[in-house]
Amino acid sequence: MTPEAIEKIIAVHAGNQGSLISILEDIQDRCRYLSEDALRTVASLTGRSLVDVYGVATFYKAFSLKPRGRHLVSVCLGTACHVRSAPDIVDEFKRQLGLEPGETSRDGEFTLETVNCLGTCALGPIVAVDGRYFSKVGRKDVTKIIRAAKADFMEDRSPEERAGLPAKVVCPHCGVSLTVPEKGAGREASLLLEASGGGKRAQVRISGVLGAGMSRSGNDFQPDTRVRYSCPNCRAGLDGAALCPECGAEMASLAFEGGGSLLICSCWGCANCMVRLNVPAAPAGPDRKRVTG
Ligand code: FES
Repeated sequence: MTPEAIEKIIAVHAGNQGSLISILEDIQDRCRYLSEDALRTVASLTGRSLVDVYGVATFYKAFSLKPRGRHLVSVCLGTACHVRSAPDIVDEFKRQLGLEPGETSRDGEFTLETVNCLGTCALGPIVAVDGRYFSKVGRKDVTKIIRAAKADFMEDRSPEERAGLPAKVVCPHCGVSLTVPEKGAGREASLLLEASGGGKRAQVRISGVLGAGMSRSGNDFQPDTRVRYSCPNCRAGLDGAALCPECGAEMASLAFEGGGSLLICSCWGCANCMVRLNVPAAPAGPDRKRVTG
C-alpha cells in the first residue's frame, strides 16, 4: 500500500479516539496484513513512535504481520469447542488444505489458524471463514465449507449481488469511494460514513446494503434519532430528496460508480435502504430491498 493511500486512511480517522487501531484495521482489511513499511508509514504520518505502533499491531491477535490468504479459516479450540471434538475439525482442515495452523497456502488462497473462543460457545464447534460463522461443525462439513469459500460464498449472496450489482458506492459530490472491505470478512463491502445527530457525531460503518441485511455499527445514536450522513472525504452532506416509505424520514443519497443510487434511511431505528438503478428516467419502479438490522 502506498504512503498516499495510508495518508487517506489516516485522514478518515483523524480526531477519533482509538484511531490507531482503526487505521491498522483498515490497512489490514485492504492488504490482509500489516507490513513493516506500512507500520513505519503510520508511525511517521501520525507522529507516534514506531514502538507504539508496533506494540498495538502485535498486542491484538486480529492483526497479522505476515501476509494472510484470501480466505482466513479460524477453528475455535476454546474449551467448549474442544470438548466437542474441535481438534478433529482442525485435523480435517489440515488434511484438506495441506496446512498447519498459522500457515498460508502457497497460492495465497487459504490461511488456517486456531483461536481460543469466538464467543458462541453453545453452538460449538465453531469455525469462522472470512467472518462467516459455521456452528456445530463436524468433520463431514469441512469439504463443504472449503468449497463454499472457494466459490466466494456465492450461494449465500442475494440475487442482486449474484446479478452483479455495482458494488462500489461513491460520494455524489467528490466521487471518492465510500466502500471499504467489511471488517474481518474478506471482500464483503461495507460503507464508511460520517454521521451526526442528537448532538453527537461519529463515524458509522454500514454493512449489508447489497447482502443479507443492512446493519450500522456503533451505539452512538439513540433509536429514532434523525442522523445526517456526510462524506468522510469532502464532508459534504449526503441528503437526498426521497422520503423513506417505511417511516417517512429523509433518505441519504449515495451514488453507485457507473450509475444508480443507494438510498439509506436517516432514522437510526429504521433499517430501510433502497437501490435505484438509472434513477433519472425512472422515478417509478425502483429495485427496492427491504432489509433488517
Ligand atoms: S469455546 Fe468455541 S466459541 Fe467459545
